[in-house]
Amino acid sequence: MNSIKNIDSFGHVRGESLFVDDIIVQQNTLCGLVYDSPKAHGIIKNLDLSKAAAIEGVIKIFTYKDIPGENQIGGIIPDEPLLAENEAHFVGQPIALIVATSDSIAKKARALIEIKIEELPIITGAKEAASKKQFINTPRTFSLGNTDNAFIECDYVFEDEVFTNGQEHLYLETQGAYAVPMENGSIKVTSSTQGPTQVQKGIAKILGIGMHRIEVDVIRLGGGFGGKEDQATPWAALTALATYLLKKPVKLILNRHDDLRMTGKRHPYESNFKIGLTKELKIIAFEADFYQNSGAAADLSPAVAERTLFHATNSYFVKNVKTTVYSCKTNLPPNTAFRGFGGPQGMFVIEAAIAKAASEIGVTTTQIQETNLIQENDELAYGQLMTQTEAINSWQSAFKKFNYKKLATEIEVFNTKNKNFKKGISVMPICFGISFTNTPMNHARALVHVYQDGTVGVSTGAVEMGQSVNTKMLQIAAQTFAIQPDKIKLETTNTTRVANTSPTAASSTADLNGKALLKACSAILERLKTVAAQELKVRQEEVSLQNEWIYVNSKKSSLSWKELVANAMLARVALSEKSHYATPKIHFDKTKEKGHPFAYHVYGTAIITTTVDCTRGTYIFDSIKIIHDYGKSMNKGIDLGQVEGALAQGIGWMTMEEIAYDKKGNLLSNALSTYKIPDIFSIAENIEVIPLETEGNEMAILKSKAVGEPPLMYGIGAYFAIQNAIKAYNPSYKLKFHAPMTPEKVLMSLYQK
Ligand code: MTE
Ligand code: MOS
Repeated sequence: MNSIKNIDSFGHVRGESLFVDDIIVQQNTLCGLVYDSPKAHGIIKNLDLSKAAAIEGVIKIFTYKDIPGENQIGGIIPDEPLLAENEAHFVGQPIALIVATSDSIAKKARALIEIKIEELPIITGAKEAASKKQFINTPRTFSLGNTDNAFIECDYVFEDEVFTNGQEHLYLETQGAYAVPMENGSIKVTSSTQGPTQVQKGIAKILGIGMHRIEVDVIRLGGGFGGKEDQATPWAALTALATYLLKKPVKLILNRHDDLRMTGKRHPYESNFKIGLTKELKIIAFEADFYQNSGAAADLSPAVAERTLFHATNSYFVKNVKTTVYSCKTNLPPNTAFRGFGGPQGMFVIEAAIAKAASEIGVTTTQIQETNLIQENDELAYGQLMTQTEAINSWQSAFKKFNYKKLATEIEVFNTKNKNFKKGISVMPICFGISFTNTPMNHARALVHVYQDGTVGVSTGAVEMGQSVNTKMLQIAAQTFAIQPDKIKLETTNTTRVANTSPTAASSTADLNGKALLKACSAILERLKTVAAQELKVRQEEVSLQNEWIYVNSKKSSLSWKELVANAMLARVALSEKSHYATPKIHFDKTKEKGHPFAYHVYGTAIITTTVDCTRGTYIFDSIKIIHDYGKSMNKGIDLGQVEGALAQGIGWMTMEEIAYDKKGNLLSNALSTYKIPDIFSIAENIEVIPLETEGNEMAILKSKAVGEPPLMYGIGAYFAIQNAIKAYNPSYKLKFHAPMTPEKVLMSLYQK
């Protein structure tokens, strides 16, 4: 069963898979187009829609005044209007919705809207916002031990600044939704969202009606990467608003330019650290202040900020820790979830601190890293006692399997022999907590129908967005019922079948929905076994299923799966089941900032080698070797795909993806000509991923650990590998921690005096 391929692969390569824009729309479907703020901050003095509205084919232009419910889409903090009222807070902020008979008419109309904005001061940087006391909420601090006392005892103390840039999600399918009016004021919305319930709730609030009137359906996403966890809601709400008021179907799909300008990205962080070590290289004190560039509204920033603190010491145990995160309000689009969810920003800082310490003390970074890896029963700053830790195991496995010593020696030899090319190596261990850090979100449901012909329909709260969660769900049902995958259909994710769902996020989707599904399938299976036992006149414990057949004490009986189901139907046995799963054992007390927030952790170690062209500042990655803790992978192909994809995204963030806003808050990197994401050539040709041999974890679905986000952080190693190559060329280079490490920056560093 392990070799089951992504069930979407055929549809994808043949162009048959359906995304929002592929749905066959109803007659007279109208087009929605968003008119957004041209200014980053100011008072809207006048909005003149008259010329635009006069165009033939423009049905209506909606503003906040038309919203029947509450003009509010803020999830964690209610601080974000769907349509701007009297003040604009970022370039790209939706102000009006044009609804027209065609896209081109809507575009013509958009160009004719006139606005007068009295400009107010614009803030684009996080520390700049902090200096002006512009915060989203109150800062949070995690602490363990006493850093003040510990720093006095340290033999070495180092401080520095760190910057990590944002990152554009660049999902292939841009944001969009399609709304259709149903009976009695109800609406059905097809949305490209990671959070169908979030969309349902958002629409209900905007329209001022009950959630039961809104049905949200998600077929699949052409990628989300966190960008559609919260930020799919406004577009769905706008289409729903128009549909509700016009009683007509309305479709709204953002074009790439609009999507890039209007949506938030990974949060840029400006940080400071202070690290203290003993002569033996034990880190005994670590402090960090994280200034998160949250953008103009909270969105998911407080939750992202929280995860930064959870991962601020990565896979290291530090006895005395004090980390604080400030969510800073700026005039950029609200930044949002992005694979890793604040974890990468936190981890980069401690890796920078270790690199700095190593460089100043004159030891290798790996010496410090290895000395401080988490061990069994270490207590982290947030109170969780670490068990089944694999930090040392994965580190040592990587060193042994990939012969680190040999690699490092080869690089040294190369560097002594070559002048214009230098190589660098780095090791990046990861430790990533699995669960929504907001404990109440850790639950899911699944609905299973066994049809009377023996085929099966499965609905869960999981959203398929390329990570192949549906394939994993199908695998669970197929395995439990012992039937062929083609007898099972994964239904769309729909709020009327599976309600009150958490978004597909935090890498926890397969665990949560899979466990619920396993429960549902098992319950039906037990009932079927009862029927089989009665029919075959044996005890139920003797009955098992294999390959669509009933076995008694491992001997094939006369009864097939198909007959059994038909008989169960005649016996009036329930062939459907709905199950609920909530992660046991986890808890977290936000007043104390202590608890046991994670079901388990995912570990791994990457070794990255690079060659820098010291004339040009360009670089290639020669090899990337990873020992990854999959637990007991339930689908090796899919999991490897997630590791490779996340790795590429991590390397992109660290090396080439450079978001740029000007001081007026305009996005300069507003097209793929100015924003470069990694392609197959940007990542090493020689990628090797070896599973860490472990027992797996009971809290993971079939002991197969979550895999969506953790491998992104291997990419952090790319930064330090390049930095080491720079040092080999330019001994007077002073380490700088300012990601991404673009070829431009490499060149400057190579020749820095
Ligand atoms: N993989 C693909 N192909 N497309 C995506 O959008 N999103 C990532 C990751 N892998 C994503 C992906 C993110 S941000 C998360 S949180 C997880 O998938 C969510 O899915 P999971 O919980 O099923 O791992
Ligand atoms: Mo992922 S950033 O949790 O959607």
